Amino acid sequence: MPTLIIVGALWGDEAKGKLVDVFGESARFNVRYSGGNNAGHTVKVGSETYKFHLIPSGILHESCTAVLGAGMVICPAALVEELKTFREKSGREGKLLISGAAHVVFPYHRSQDAAEEEMRGDNPLGTTKRGIGPAYQDKVSRIGIRMWEFVDPNRLTSRVKEVVSLKNRTLQAFGEKPIDADAIIAEYCAYADLIRPFVGEAELIVNEAIRRGEKVLFEGAQGTLLDIDMGTYPYVTGSHPTSGGACVGTGLPPTMIDNVLGVCAAYATRVGAGPFPTELHNEIGERIRIQGNEFGTTTGRARRTGWLDLVALRHASRINGFTSLAITRLDVLSGFEEVGLCTSYEVDGHQTDAFPSDTMKLEAAKPLLEMQPGWNENLSNCKTYEELPKEAQRFVDRIEMFTETPVSLISVGPERTETIYLKPSLIWN
Ligand code: GDP
Ligand code: IMO
Ligand code: MG
Repeated sequence: MPTLIIVGALWGDEAKGKLVDVFGESARFNVRYSGGNNAGHTVKVGSETYKFHLIPSGILHESCTAVLGAGMVICPAALVEELKTFREKSGREGKLLISGAAHVVFPYHRSQDAAEEEMRGDNPLGTTKRGIGPAYQDKVSRIGIRMWEFVDPNRLTSRVKEVVSLKNRTLQAFGEKPIDADAIIAEYCAYADLIRPFVGEAELIVNEAIRRGEKVLFEGAQGTLLDIDMGTYPYVTGSHPTSGGACVGTGLPPTMIDNVLGVCAAYATRVGAGPFPTELHNEIGERIRIQGNEFGTTTGRARRTGWLDLVALRHASRINGFTSLAITRLDVLSGFEEVGLCTSYEVDGHQTDAFPSDTMKLEAAKPLLEMQPGWNENLSNCKTYEELPKEAQRFVDRIEMFTETPVSLISVGPERTETIYLKPSLIWN
């Protein structure tokens, strides 16, 4: 079957956007299955740089329809702005389809996100404050508003009034200013006019395409360790970035999954709070941040940096069922005398190579590192594995061996062309 799921292996920002763009070229549909505009994907195409938050980067290809799946929470203002920017930059309309079952983010979700972060005082989660968690809370509480209701003016008005009256009861009990439903309705009716033409039965359309044998690329935002169930709870997002999220978030039957590509950078990064065993609080971490330009696409925050954690990566490979791995940003590690790989942790005085699901244990985990010789060569012109310096080859081989997952691709720069294809048949059949 011609399906491929692209999953962030660790804490997001692994360069999924670049790979989705690369493989979007041969896909008929590129379906995003979770999250909202908390994501930020930077894609370089020649002299142009696109920053996507909601729209899958497959939209860059004329033949590919970008689909916003049912598992997403969509901020209409952000979507309208992103579509406008895409059209101005590309000079194209772009093919877009939005699942009527996706949920809508409202201003009260953003206010709640910011207020909850404030209330956490010295221990914030470090959310993107885009209202993602509260939008998923409403969905689970069965008071969320879906795309179908949003694009129907009568239903939008009645649903907003109903939800706002519920929320205002709580706000008033705490002496807070009530939400103005009429202002939201006026603003959202204007967005609905712009978005209505794209809303449809996405699950059915995508399912039929797969059954016709067309290539469909599924894209998870964020990363495995930010998954609400599989991640470092509570330092996680509100959805399922793992491969299973593609099923629940788009109606993709598990039996129709062909390949799962795990994307991981040659080092680890994390934005926001939460355990990060291999984090480097020294000049090496700072050097990785500068060489890799590790500043968030969405919030501009400096990303935390550290050596690649193979214990976490193997765990990610197992729970996502990675059929192969893409190692990105290998070029960033050029010039380091030594490069580190974490192959076990010391937890409570015991050595283990198992990733603990108890966040407290992970917080206490001391990384045990394997230091490997580095390389000085610039990798961005390498087109084959053989052209890589032998130290870089050894680094890649060690990742493959430890994770028991074949490396099918290496990325050595942000451009489409800065890509080494090792085993392309493991990605698309
Ligand atoms: P995503 O959220 O997983 O799509 O990743 P982001 O776009 O947030 O962050 C990845 C960054 O790395 C972007 O600025 C990309 O342009 C850039 N990038 C992608 N691949 C490579 C690579 O192989 N080498 C380098 N140096 N940068 C890359
Ligand atoms: P992409 O798709 C990295 C992080 C936030 C925070 C936590 C919860 O670009 O890889 P949220 O706003 O989702 O409630 O915040 O999740 N986070 C990301 N970190 N890349 C992302 O997306 C992220 N999306 C959310 O920093 O720690
Ligand atoms: Mg990102």
